Amino acid sequence: MQRWTLHIAVALWLSVLFGLKLGVRPPMPASVLMIYMTLTTIGILVFVAANEERFQAFLAPLKAVFAGRAPKAAQIAVLAGIPLLAGWGAWLRTAPSLDAPFEPRVVHPEPPTSFSSHGKRIDAATLKNPLRAAQEKNPAELEKLTQQGKTIYYQNCFFCHGDALAGDGHFANAFSPIPANFRDVGTISMLQESFVYWRVATGGPGLPKGATPWLSAMPVWQNFLSEDEIWKAILYIYAGSGSTPRTWDEEGGHEKH
Ligand code: HEC
Repeated sequence: MQRWTLHIAVALWLSVLFGLKLGVRPPMPASVLMIYMTLTTIGILVFVAANEERFQAFLAPLKAVFAGRAPKAAQIAVLAGIPLLAGWGAWLRTAPSLDAPFEPRVVHPEPPTSFSSHGKRIDAATLKNPLRAAQEKNPAELEKLTQQGKTIYYQNCFFCHGDALAGDGHFANAFSPIPANFRDVGTISMLQESFVYWRVATGGPGLPKGATPWLSAMPVWQNFLSEDEIWKAILYIYAGSGSTPRTWDEEGGHEKH
């Protein structure tokens, strides 16, 4: 049994290391693991050193390697392994990381005071959904326009924004940032329709340059849909996701997004 003291000590140390690394969920921070492993090392060394005979048995294989009495393979493994491990550690600490740098993103930037859509200048502050305004007293007509918006949505938007308007369409995972989830309280339900129109008409490229990087895959819909079609699609994304647009507050003050 004494012959195997070093092996048992190493096996014990490794099983504590892997037990803590693989068996503890969520994974513990590296600094805590370091503390446990230092205590484990000290504990094992104290146990080994407490008995002279055990200590000599523990040192015997090490002495054999360094005195050249151990088998060749064991000597090569130890003598080449130590500098290799040290080199690997140094490389891990100094190698440049390939992770993308962290870039914060403003999800709802301040909209411009005016923007261009379908070749016209549009004043963002006074912009209203003309369809909703015209059909306010006529729910049946509004419902018809919403149904037309539904068709537009499933012909153009659902690939990204999803079947259930939850931002999980077929292509959604291919994009970063991912498409907006219209059921989330943090998207269209906190936005005025004018803001939503601006975002749909000008898409990712219409986002303000000051707040880059945007890298949004949202297409520039004014190139593909008429003004009417965009407003209809907007009617539908509110109705279909069970949300309502944000409106001006009573005092008429500007709300920030
Ligand atoms: C190619 C994928 C794609 C398609 C198709 C697409 N979108 Fe988007 N959309 C995105 C992505 C990605 C975002 C999130 C990034 C951003 O805000 O630009 C987004 C964001 C939006 C936002 C902003 C929501 C917010 O909270 O700011 C609106 C509104 C929107 N889309 C409406 C539409 C409408 C309406 C259509 C169809 C006419 C459509 N989208 C089609 C990818 C797409």
